[in-house]
This record gives sequence, structure tokens and C-alpha cells, in this order.
Amino acid sequence: MTDESERRTTARVDWDAAAATFDDEPDHGLRDPEVRAAWADRLRAWLPGRPADVLDLGCGTGSLALLAAERGHRVTGVDLSPAMVDLARAKTAGRDAVFLVGDAAAPPVGERRFDAVLVRHVLWTLPGPGRVLRHWSGLLRPGGRLVLVEGVWGAVSPVGIPAARLTALLEPIASDVRTEPLSDEPALWGGPVTDERYAVVATV
Ligand SMILES: C[S@@+](CC[C@H](N)C(=O)[O-])C[C@H]1O[C@@H](n2cnc3c(N)ncnc32)[C@H](O)[C@@H]1O
Repeated sequence: MTDESERRTTARVDWDAAAATFDDEPDHGLRDPEVRAAWADRLRAWLPGRPADVLDLGCGTGSLALLAAERGHRVTGVDLSPAMVDLARAKTAGRDAVFLVGDAAAPPVGERRFDAVLVRHVLWTLPGPGRVLRHWSGLLRPGGRLVLVEGVWGAVSPVGIPAARLTALLEPIASDVRTEPLSDEPALWGGPVTDERYAVVATV
């Protein structure tokens, strides 16, 4: 996430309006083959090794959903923005991926359960992240995992959720919590970054 997208998020961005240009950021659109390959490698490591049911919350334009579907996963994406969902559907056409308009904090998936809940750059914007994480863990089958990609952006007025806080919130929920620092991985971001970026894979 760039400084510009941080500012937009903090200002309670109109995600429908942002959708058309969202993919212009290297880590959003994954148009650069090197950036795309870097995220594909990470998802391969973070998601189950066999085809699985993956719930991508706050899925945006579906870039990660597409990578997951390309690995054979069955993807359900949820986003509050109909414009984002439209773009995600177009991006994943022909793949095993469905998209719903809804709140990531209470996804409209009924009694369905998943092998992995994937969330990138969304948790920190939701009120009550501890409560939200508990709800997400309840959407998992036994042995399922939360794959959370988050960070802290900006130097002057930082926004986001530090890894230490997220892992503390996960402690009562998950049996195994692994944190992977991502700040020193320019290929993921389309260039060097200096702020805190990380992924947490938590098995419940
Ligand atoms: C920074 S973007 C991240 C998109 C995607 N996860 C990615 O990494 O490319 C945040 C996304 O979350 C969505 N969003 C924000 N609040 C949401 C909520 N409460 N429920 C569902 N989606 C939400 C926005 O519409 C937007 O698509």
C-alpha cells in the first residue's frame, strides 16, 4: 500500500470511486511479472498445498483471488464495494471464483466453512479487530488457517496494525501463529519500502 492509498483509506475512501485506478499500484494490479511472481510464491507457501476453499475478505479487484484460483483453489471473495466486485468477477472470469458484496467483518457466507481466510490490507480498517478475528476463525474448518497480510504505513501519522498487536490478538484464537516480515522484499511492492509490512499465518 502506498502513502497515497493510505491517505485515501484513512479518509474513509469511496472504494467504488477508487476501483477504476486501484490496480495502478504495483502490489494491487500485479501487472509487473516480477511482482506477480513474488505474490504467487508467497500465496503458494501460505495457502494449503492441495486445492482448498479460500475466503478472500475485502478482496478488492481480485488480484490475490486470481492467483489463488490459478493454484486450483476454490475462491469466494467478499467486498463492500460493488465496483470492486465487478472488477474481481471480470478478472477471474472462467475460474473457480465467486464474489459477494458484503461486509468483511460479517461475511454473508451462511453456514459455509473454509480451509483458509485470506485478508490483505483490510483488517486494520475494521472496528474491533479482536472480535473480527474470532468471527473469521469460526468460518474455518478444523485445522484451517488465517492468512493476514497487514502493516503500518506512513511515518508522520502512521496507520495500520503492528505485527506485535496482531499476534497478541491471535494468541487466544490460534494454535500456531507464524509471522513473516515482508518489508525487505521489494519484489512484492514494486520497489523498496521502509515501513512495517508482514504476513501472519495462524492455524486455528
Ligand atoms: C486496500 S484495499 C485491499 C484489496 C485487496 N485485499 C488487495 O489486497 O488487493 C481494501 C479493500 O477492502 C474493501 N473494504 C473496506 N472495508 C470493507 C468492509 N468492511 N467489508 C468488505 N470490504 C471492505 C474495499 O472496498 C477495498 O476493496
